[in-house]
Amino acid sequence: MKTLIACYSYTGTTLTVAQKLQEQINADLTRIEPVKDRWYVIKAIHAYLEKKWPIKPCITDVSVYDCLIVCCPVWAGRTPSGVNQYLEEVLNTSGKKFAALVTMGGEGNQMATTQIHNALEAKGMEFIAKTAIGGKAQKSGEWEKMVQDFGGKFNEE
Ligand SMILES: Cc1cc2nc3c(=O)[nH]c(=O)nc-3n(C[C@H](O)[C@H](O)[C@H](O)COP(=O)(O)O)c2cc1C
Repeated sequence: MKTLIACYSYTGTTLTVAQKLQEQINADLTRIEPVKDRWYVIKAIHAYLEKKWPIKPCITDVSVYDCLIVCCPVWAGRTPSGVNQYLEEVLNTSGKKFAALVTMGGEGNQMATTQIHNALEAKGMEFIAKTAIGGKAQKSGEWEKMVQDFGGKFNEE
């Protein structure tokens, strides 16, 4: 299945994970990048409030793809504001499949994968899979196995 990975990464962790996934499933990758960076506290507050930040041009038209995988870090338990904007802008989604992969420093509950799920389901997309890679898995190297298992869900068709 022809897959697009849309990745936002601030400090590079999610990008490393997304690139590993890209290699495994032979997907295209587009970077979600906010036009403007903001202070840490503003990042967290805006994510918490589910605000949207303008983003630079990237692939938002998924008409040539069968599947979209959104990858991003968890900020304040939620999706970063640039990702919220992407989820609004993404188009020609109806009938396509989607998945969500998030990375986080901790291990606690997070809303980010649910936000991605709700936003894309509302755009007529069909859910395949979601996963959250926490700090422990990042440090131990277990994340590579998690990506492999996750990626296995996109090779079937
Ligand atoms: C503004 C901000 C808020 C964050 N909030 C959380 C959080 O609520 N829970 C958590 O586990 N990690 C949190 N983190 C840590 C990141 O989710 C984690 O380090 C992630 O893997 C970084 O991905 P990146 O390198 O792709 O940006 C936060 C980081 C930032 C910068």
